[in-house]
Amino acid sequence: EDGITVGELAEMIGQTPANVIKVLFMLGTMVTINSSLTDEQVELICLEYGYEAKKKVVVSEINFEDIEIVDDEADLVGRPPVVTIMGHVDHGKTTLLDYIRKSRVAEGEFGGITQHIGAYQVEVGGKKITFLDTPGHEAFTAMRARGAQLTDIVIIVVAADDGVMPQTKEAVDHALAAGVPIVVAINKIDKEGADPERIKGEMSELGLMPEEWGGDTVYCNISAKKGIGIEELLETLTVVAELADLKANPKRYAYGSVVEGRLDKGRGPVATLLVQNGTLRAGDPIVVGTAFGRVRQMLGDHGKELKEAGPSTPVEITGLNDVPVAGDKFMAFETEKMARHVGEERQKAKQEQDRGVSSAMSLDDLFNQI
Ligand code: GTP
Ligand code: MG
Repeated sequence: EDGITVGELAEMIGQTPANVIKVLFMLGTMVTINSSLTDEQVELICLEYGYEAKKKVVVSEINFEDIEIVDDEADLVGRPPVVTIMGHVDHGKTTLLDYIRKSRVAEGEFGGITQHIGAYQVEVGGKKITFLDTPGHEAFTAMRARGAQLTDIVIIVVAADDGVMPQTKEAVDHALAAGVPIVVAINKIDKEGADPERIKGEMSELGLMPEEWGGDTVYCNISAKKGIGIEELLETLTVVAELADLKANPKRYAYGSVVEGRLDKGRGPVATLLVQNGTLRAGDPIVVGTAFGRVRQMLGDHGKELKEAGPSTPVEITGLNDVPVAGDKFMAFETEKMARHVGEERQKAKQEQDRGVSSAMSLDDLFNQI
C-alpha cells in the first residue's frame, strides 16, 4: 500500500512520530516512521487524539514479536556483541565460559549438565562481550534455537576427542538458520587422541570450511580446562564483532528477550532478561510476555544491584505479576498504565488463544477498557 506514513500523519495531527508509533504498538501493530498506514490505523490514531471515529475496526491481538521501531541514526551507539556458546553435551561449553569468567559455574551445576541458558558479560581488553551458555543435552532443542536467535555470533564447541555429534550438527543448523557468524572452537585439545584436523574435516561436511582450507570459517584450537587458545578465541570474537558493527539506541525504552523465568520463594517471579535495545531502569513499567509490573530490583550477572542496564546487558529483575517463559519478549513503557494495558491485553489474547478462540476484538471493546 502507499497510504499516508506514520511520519506524515504525526505531522498532520501535531504529534511526534514516537507517540503515533506508541499508540499503534499499544493497539497491537508494529510500525516504523516510514510505514504506510491503513485507513483503519489512521482512524485509530485520530480517535486516540480526540477525533471522531466513523466505523468499527478490528484490533488484532497485542503482539510484539517483531518489534521494529526505527531509531534515529544519531542516537545509535556501538553495543557489545552477544555470543552464544553451543554444541553437543559435555563438549565443554560451560567450562569454556567458566574459564573466560574465571569463576566456577560448571562445578556448581547439578550433575554438571546445563539445564538453562546462562547469561554473562565479561570484559576483554576494555570491551564488553555478552555470553549466553546453552545446554547440549538433546532435550533442549528449543533453548538452542532461541539462543541462536538472540545472538550476534555463535561459538560451536566441538570436543576434539569426540568429534561432530548429533547436537553439534543441530547447533550448526540453528546458527546457519539464524544467519549469524560462526566461530568453531575445537575443545579438549589437551586430551590424548585429540585430532583437530579430523574435526575440521567433519565440520567442513556441515558447510563450515576452515579459512586455512580456503573456506571462511574461523577455527580455534582450545582447551577450556587448561586455558589454552582462549585468548586467540576472544580476539577472534572481537574482530568478528567489529566487522558486524553492532549498534543500539540507549536512549529508548528497553526491549529484549527473556533468557529464563522462575518463581523465587522470597522474591516472587524472577526473570533473567537480555536487553537488546534501549536502556532498562529500576522502576520502569514493563511487560514481559504476558506478565507485567515495574522493575523492582535489577541485578547484574554478578548479583550486583543495577540502576540501569544498556543494550546487550543481561539482568535479573523482580516486580512482575507472573513468571515469564524463556523466549518471551519484553518491553518497557513510559507509564504503568500503558504497561498494564498491554500486559492485560496480551494475557487475554493468550487465554483466548489457549482456548482456541479468535482474539480479535472490536475497537469499542478496547476503548471501553482504557
Ligand atoms: P552441557 O552443558 O551438559 O551440554 O555440557 P558442557 O558442554 O557445558 O560441558 P562441561 O563444560 O560441563 O564439561 C563437560 C566435561 O568435560 C567436564 O568434566 C569438563 O571438566 C570436561 N572438559 C571441558 N573442557 C575440557 C578440556 O578442554 N579438556 C579436558 N580434558 N576436559 C574438559
Ligand atoms: Mg554446560
